[in-house]
Amino acid sequence: MAVRSVRRMGDPLLWARSQEVTDVAAPALKDLIGDMRDTMAVLQGAGLAAPQIGVPLRVVIFGVSANPRYPQVETVPDTVLINPVIEPLGDDMEEAWEGCLSVPGMRGLVPRYRRIRYRGIDQDGRALEREAHGFHARVVQHECDHLDGILYPLRVRDLKYFGYESVLFPEGFAGGDA
Ligand code: NI
Repeated sequence: MAVRSVRRMGDPLLWARSQEVTDVAAPALKDLIGDMRDTMAVLQGAGLAAPQIGVPLRVVIFGVSANPRYPQVETVPDTVLINPVIEPLGDDMEEAWEGCLSVPGMRGLVPRYRRIRYRGIDQDGRALEREAHGFHARVVQHECDHLDGILYPLRVRDLKYFGYESVLFPEGFAGGDA
């Protein structure tokens, strides 16, 4: 497995719709997931989508473990999700600050559905279905957007709330990129 370079905003691949995975048992898929995990770990990301490392397939990973430095950040289970589908549970939206490994150094205030159900296939080919809310739901929506060629700055409602992390949060920001 290997740490791969992450594509940054401006790369046309990040604006493209990624393709469904048709063979969840393919060795190349296992390699891809391993590379995604290594890359996310080194960059201390909260999530990563396959197109961010240049592979236009509908695969995302995410996970946030407890960090004593930032006790207010909610944890998210370590998850591999293939061919994900998101269903909003209600119309309720909430805004919070996001960052993205493909938009380094920046933060934006992004509206997301508060509650969702998501479905997909895990790394062992089993069906996965969960309900999520808050930060967990936000991370999943951010990652799945990548599969449809959407980067979070496109969802910022007011560009006054998009800027450099070092300016917006001089004391540091509690939360990772995804
Ligand atoms: Ni991202």
